[in-house]
Amino acid sequence: MKEISKPYIILSAAMTIDGKIATRKGDSELSDKTDWKEVHKLRTEVDAIMVGKGTILKDNPKLHIKYYNNRGYYRIVLDSNLTIPLESNVISFRQEIYPTIICTTENVPLSKVKMYEDKGVKIIKAGDGKRVNLIKLLPILKDLGINYILLEGGGNLNWSFIENNLINEIRLTIAPWIVGGKEATSLVEGMGFEEIAKAPKFELFDVKVRTYYITLRYKRRQ
Ligand SMILES: NC(=O)c1ccc[n+]([C@@H]2O[C@H](COP(=O)([O-])OP(=O)(O)OC[C@H]3O[C@@H](n4cnc5c(N)ncnc54)[C@H](OP(=O)(O)O)[C@@H]3O)[C@@H](O)[C@H]2O)c1
Repeated sequence: MKEISKPYIILSAAMTIDGKIATRKGDSELSDKTDWKEVHKLRTEVDAIMVGKGTILKDNPKLHIKYYNNRGYYRIVLDSNLTIPLESNVISFRQEIYPTIICTTENVPLSKVKMYEDKGVKIIKAGDGKRVNLIKLLPILKDLGINYILLEGGGNLNWSFIENNLINEIRLTIAPWIVGGKEATSLVEGMGFEEIAKAPKFELFDVKVRTYYITLRYKRRQ
């Protein structure tokens, strides 16, 4: 695949022993305080945090930093038809420190765009397909000065990045539960690859073991 000019992407997630990032009802409370602190530390090092619409609808996260002083960063949400509630925390909570960008498609009418812009949100349109086109979007983000993105899921957005081989690094915490369930969200959803040889390969470069948790860090093999 042709390399594009894009930010460095770090996928970050906490998953169960059986590879789920949320239960079938959407409960994703997998991290303990030590893990959250590490994630928040990582957030201090990036220019943006990115999530999919599903994560906004299920968790309504603020995507802020609790444990450290920080200079702020962009919160980026992928929402192809501009449907997340205007009252979502990513819109109402502290845009002066964590400005919000919603990435959508050309199919969205200007009147709808204006409703979000009136709330201080920046809208970027990438592609005219059913979903936001990552190959078009990432160079636009890079041009805005966004060089490092922490991709915080969920499973469907993770798949789009993996499918297009766009992940540079992974930080994965394995939490001490097994939740099961075909309908529980896996770390990576989507169609999946048919053959291992076609899937991106990652090299383990750091392992942290605690009593209940393991944190693994991988880099993409070139
Ligand atoms: N444990 C963890 O670390 C962790 C982290 C994050 C999330 N989660 C959990 O994951 C669950 C949500 O995951 P999810 O898979 O349902 O949703 P998701 O990946 O957060 O969002 C997927 C949605 O994003 C939109 N989207 C826009 N462009 C896209 C693109 N190019 N590729 C993929 N999606 C695109 C699509 O909706 P439109 O077509 O409408 O645009 C799609 O349905 C929640 O339960 C949350 O709690 C867990």
